[in-house]
Amino acid sequence: MPQPVRKAVLPVAGMATRFLPASKAVPKVMLPVVDKPLIQYAVEEARAAGIEEFIFVTGRGEAAIADHFGPDEALDAFLAARGDDTARALAARAVLAPGAAAFTRQEEPLGLGHAVLCARHLVGDEPFAVLLADELLLGEPPCLAELVEVHGRTGGSVVALAEVPQAETNRYGIAEIAAEEGRTVTLSGMVEKPEPGRAPSRLALIGRYVLQPAVFARLAAQPAGAGGEIQLTDAMAAMASEAPFYGVRFTGRRFDCGSPAGYLQATVACALERAELRQDLLAFLRGIAPSP
Ligand code: UTP
Repeated sequence: MPQPVRKAVLPVAGMATRFLPASKAVPKVMLPVVDKPLIQYAVEEARAAGIEEFIFVTGRGEAAIADHFGPDEALDAFLAARGDDTARALAARAVLAPGAAAFTRQEEPLGLGHAVLCARHLVGDEPFAVLLADELLLGEPPCLAELVEVHGRTGGSVVALAEVPQAETNRYGIAEIAAEEGRTVTLSGMVEKPEPGRAPSRLALIGRYVLQPAVFARLAAQPAGAGGEIQLTDAMAAMASEAPFYGVRFTGRRFDCGSPAGYLQATVACALERAELRQDLLAFLRGIAPSP
């Protein structure tokens, strides 16, 4: 029986250059999609997968994230005095249990692999999840729960995959496929940001991972890779050549909220799902859409 996945690492220390100037003082993942910050969507997805401990690897703006997931007695008292139970419940829903959130700093943005390595001592010697909160994944079951399920069955490392256009392989880690059964893929390797002509497939890693703790030793020993960064993909590729490594094709909706275009699409899609916003927004969008 594989060890359960209890901890999640949420790396939020990137410089978020595509979101300047908004990301100058506010972490990108604190930007709201409708009225909930991106990071809370990721935490809720992790909770739905059974995660109990949340490890945030932060750069600038750590305080905003810590405040968001901590209790706010003054706000609660204010809303209680007004009798606004709806707002009270919304604020309370963001609060993590005492001791469930841990913070560690990545002092320099040396890459995603380096950010994950910064969480090594907080994770310890057990399998763990990684979620990139700027990838907003809406699916039922939620994406991470699917990975945890495959890990529970196989004991291997598992990543979420989605097909991307050939021309975009150089924006992602791309899987090298050994076998496929249903939506579960066995990986023989993976490559970070291959040029379209050299990509081993069109299946991209989309920011959800369940990893064995062996990844930490790999990352610690690893030289910088593509872009001069310590790449998580390189460490995982080495693991895939030695131990079972799986992917799950994600069938829900995916929004790359690291770019303004993806973020705007996520905002519109999520707003259209809200009964109280839908009709007015649709009317507005129809009003501004150029006629065919
Ligand atoms: P991105 O490649 O999207 O980089 O990182 P970025 O800095 O967030 O954004 P741009 O490209 O400059 O606009 C993918 C994820 O890895 C984290 C980011 O916070 C993001 O969640 N990351 C990246 C780190 O935590 N540390 C790093 O050194 C690099």
